[in-house]
Amino acid sequence: MKTNRLATRLVLVTACFLMVCCAPKKINQEEQQIEKLLAQMTIDDKIGQTALRGTSSRVKGALSEEFKQAVRDGQVGSVLNVMNVEYVKELQGIAVEESRLGIPLIFARDVIHGFKTIFPIPIGLAASWDEQTAYDCARVSALEASSQGIRWTFAPMLDIARDSRWGRVAESPGEDPYLASILAKAYIRGFQGDSLSDPRSMAACAKHFLAYGAAIGGRDYNSAVIHNAEMQNIYLPPFKAAIDAGAATIMSSFNDVNGVPATGNKFILRDILRDQLGFNGFVVSDWNSVTEMIPHGFAANEKEAGKLSAMAGLDMEMTSAAYQNHLKQLIETGEVSMDVLDDMVRNILRVKIQLGLFKAPYIPDNHPGQMYAEESMKAAYDAAVNSFVLLKNDNNLLPLKAEQKILLTGPLADAPHDQLGTWTFDGDKARTVTVKDAFEQNASTQFINGLEYSRDNSKKQFQATVAKAKKSDVIVFVGGEEAILSGEAHSRADIRLPGVQEELLYELSQTGKPIVLVIMAGRPINISAVLPFVDAVMMAWHPGTLGGPALYDVLTGSREPGGRLPITWPKSAGQLPIYYNQKNTGRPADKESFVHMDDIPVGAWQSSLGNKSHYLDAGFLPAFPFGYGLTYTSFDYSNLLLSDTTMNDAGNIKMNVTLTNTGSRKGTEIVQLYLQDQTASLTRPVKELKDYQKVTLLANESRVIEFNIKASQLTFYNNDNKKVLEPGVFNVFVGGNSLHVLSDSFCFE
Ligand code: NOJ
Repeated sequence: MKTNRLATRLVLVTACFLMVCCAPKKINQEEQQIEKLLAQMTIDDKIGQTALRGTSSRVKGALSEEFKQAVRDGQVGSVLNVMNVEYVKELQGIAVEESRLGIPLIFARDVIHGFKTIFPIPIGLAASWDEQTAYDCARVSALEASSQGIRWTFAPMLDIARDSRWGRVAESPGEDPYLASILAKAYIRGFQGDSLSDPRSMAACAKHFLAYGAAIGGRDYNSAVIHNAEMQNIYLPPFKAAIDAGAATIMSSFNDVNGVPATGNKFILRDILRDQLGFNGFVVSDWNSVTEMIPHGFAANEKEAGKLSAMAGLDMEMTSAAYQNHLKQLIETGEVSMDVLDDMVRNILRVKIQLGLFKAPYIPDNHPGQMYAEESMKAAYDAAVNSFVLLKNDNNLLPLKAEQKILLTGPLADAPHDQLGTWTFDGDKARTVTVKDAFEQNASTQFINGLEYSRDNSKKQFQATVAKAKKSDVIVFVGGEEAILSGEAHSRADIRLPGVQEELLYELSQTGKPIVLVIMAGRPINISAVLPFVDAVMMAWHPGTLGGPALYDVLTGSREPGGRLPITWPKSAGQLPIYYNQKNTGRPADKESFVHMDDIPVGAWQSSLGNKSHYLDAGFLPAFPFGYGLTYTSFDYSNLLLSDTTMNDAGNIKMNVTLTNTGSRKGTEIVQLYLQDQTASLTRPVKELKDYQKVTLLANESRVIEFNIKASQLTFYNNDNKKVLEPGVFNVFVGGNSLHVLSDSFCFE
């Protein structure tokens, strides 16, 4: 499945050439076709195109006559969550052959991290820091789903997430705008292929626009309160990257941003999305997010909700029917102009044309999309290996040694459904190869699950589990969260291991046998209580269909854990939100002045202890920083050298650092480059990831790694939505994670 990179480059060069030669002509033809259609459309036909209708993905019942008639009457523009390919064909037939204008439907679905072949959940894919992994997931998803007529996916989710209580951290690209932007591009290329009109391509939908991940306290659907600079510098970049890569559609978010719901937010949907980012596809609401502006307290009723959305620039309404029920009247009374509706329809028709649906509305007979194809499964396996993050490995407990007798236990060791993770509608759990299945090839493994499921509070298997542990050399405990504990509407206030997992781990530790804790979860978990008595920790996220074999191979050392944290791992939920690219504050915390609350004398007088920005109990550092992840070897950084001490507008500076593999086996390091604008007209983050390279070195090998620092990497947006580059000192940091770095600085003049 791996794309040959050289071939890709050649295709890209050719594609750019063709685009330059043919693009204006093609765009012109597209626009002419749109205008021709528009001229034939009644106001009802136009409103019909703005309607995205469907049934719940769980309902497999027959299509209702009423629904079919609505399609025939041109009242439905697109359909979501049709489970059955026969229904897809039937509905498309009605739209194309029986409706007055024969405008094809788009069939949409949440194909988030795989259709049938399930890849790791998106936060796991983000942990790979690997474009190819994200691309492969999207490409396989598109290949499989489009073979069922699904040509539009509600992915990628590009919400920057800084609070692991939020359940949708599982679906997110993590906390960093640069990493998220790299992934965004790869997803769009993967879903949309070389051309949207290829029947193996799906239109992508970058979501949720905007700042959904900034929900207060990580409570899903909650308000985002962010100033413009934060919006521009943190939340927008992945969307910009997706749009630059050609994302065909955007989904507005449920939340309000600075008091205005995103779905009715003209500043966000027109000024930012259209004018600043140059988006020319269509914008769809989230599920009922148009009418949810009523409980938000922004629209008084359904009619006003429809008016506000249309005026704000929302083209298509998902599931609620404010447009269907009121848009005609709003136009007749002049409250919304026909021009506004025409533009909405233009945007939608443009994507339908680009998808090639007018020319080829049906699934071609020779569609190559095969479910669970060997190469797709291989890509899912590789993605899982690349997503695992090794957080702790005392005494090189991992990889496991061939002669060791293993006890495999824990509620997620044999959990075919939960291994697939949130947003898995179509993946078949019967195809999941669990960790237990994979360990069956190892004759010296015994198994007991210890707990039935992650929230299990029963200790009835404790004794038997401990007895088996005593007869083994090493314990592999696969715990974490069931899939249903993360994802939409699944925020948690306490992010510790649920049920009595901590207690079982404690009992097992009393045997004196070393413990490998493997975590399957949709978010970083607070493992502070168990960290002292487990010897190794592997974060496996929800690794998908082939997560079991991938884990087996990594735990036993034939593969290396490839991941690095795409999100800061907190010590406790009380530290949240926590992220590496924070501001310094006037009183930055440090080791020297930190006083732990246990060290405060009893009866101490009022004093501002330490006088710094920290917690008396949790300190100021996370459990594991952004970018962190161990390998089975070790790396050393030395000789950081900048080619110059100053830079100007036109210039760039080269940064060299020597990387040495100081361990005893070959390994891959992700060398991370961070910058800091030391003093500016707005306070700037202590560090921002600007570039990274994956480098594989043999044992004892050293290599000089070079980065090119460009003036464009020094810019930021201010609160007037202006991009600026201010002279002054810039600090450069390089290392294997965001905390442990070498540093130097230069001046921008
Ligand atoms: C609501 C979710 O927020 C969104 O991400 C999803 O695509 C839609 N429902 C459709 O299922």
